[in-house]
Amino acid sequence: MSGIKLLATGSALPQHMITNHDLEQIMDTSDEWITSRTGIGARHHCQGEECHTSLCLEAAKKALERSGVKPEEVGVCLVATLTPDHLTPATACVLQKELGFQEDAICFDLNAACSGFVYALHTAECLLAASQRKYGLVLGAEVLSRVIDINDRSTYVLFGDGAGAAVVEWREEFPSIHAVLGCRGNDQVLTIPGVNKGVPAVVHMDGQDVFRFAVEALPRCAREVAQKAGITLEEVDRFVLHQANQRIINFAVKKLGVDPAKCTGNIAHTANTSAASVPILLDELVQKGEIQPGNKVLCVGFGGGLTWAGALLEVAQGREGDTK
Ligand code: ACO
Repeated sequence: MSGIKLLATGSALPQHMITNHDLEQIMDTSDEWITSRTGIGARHHCQGEECHTSLCLEAAKKALERSGVKPEEVGVCLVATLTPDHLTPATACVLQKELGFQEDAICFDLNAACSGFVYALHTAECLLAASQRKYGLVLGAEVLSRVIDINDRSTYVLFGDGAGAAVVEWREEFPSIHAVLGCRGNDQVLTIPGVNKGVPAVVHMDGQDVFRFAVEALPRCAREVAQKAGITLEEVDRFVLHQANQRIINFAVKKLGVDPAKCTGNIAHTANTSAASVPILLDELVQKGEIQPGNKVLCVGFGGGLTWAGALLEVAQGREGDTK
């Protein structure tokens, strides 16, 4: 044994919300098309001073405050993202300074696109096992409004900005999160060119290919996590699935044969926030009381890379450190 449990969560969405009706005014689209194809009704875009770092700071502060973990107790801080404010310093390093983590805390960003938060959870579990300190701060955050082309209606309507954070505790006696991570390298169906390519860094996506990939990868990954953890899917209290498209989720839920009431999401008001999608939804469910201490939460992300990642995250009853 040895693993992490979830202590607390936080999230942040930009103030400015853009509805499908707002988009109807600026491009050739309709609320009917977007809602029926994706389940998306609105998305949030950063404006003014809002940026990747400010969203991360807001989400991280909420999660830390709710957890009761002090910054000096944090051993690992990871930010999953493909849209940081700067290539260096990593956002995690900015958080180290702004939040006051010790200098030997391990802080870095990682990019596994929409699977990034779950990749980061697994990475944090491994790193905390070797750390003096037992608390980790794991974020997923994106400002995708910076990498979408307003002239491409097939992608512009799909994406939004936001950040989600989770404080986790590692203990020898905790079960592992039984992470299942995977990658099938593909630079055709979902790409954002890098800064040195000489072309605009905007999302290019073959929606139908991504759709086909997602409806296969999501249920397969969820099953593999449950199998690795030695539980049935019925024993899972809550599924937190990457909010890319409501139709993908509906397909996956049907394929898995699980109760749809355990799989509800928030895509209607967040759209697809890539690495931020799983932790933002996790936080919304915790704040609403739909995820409770002791619950087993199966998280799955999938997307660019192509990548997929799943993990079974148990919610702690409180800080183990406090009960010793
Ligand atoms: N408004 C109105 N019409 C549109 C829009 C729009 N915003 N976008 C495309 N259309 C039109 C197309 O031009 C096309 O018109 P045509 O038939 O006259 O050529 C028509 O709608 C159908 O287009 P398709 O691309 O075939 O539409 P589809 O039904 O496949 O839906 C969608 C597109 C929603 C992108 C779907 O393929 C999908 O959801 N794929 C998965 C994408 C995804 O989940 N990506 C994220 C995962 S990875 C990550 O999170 C980064």
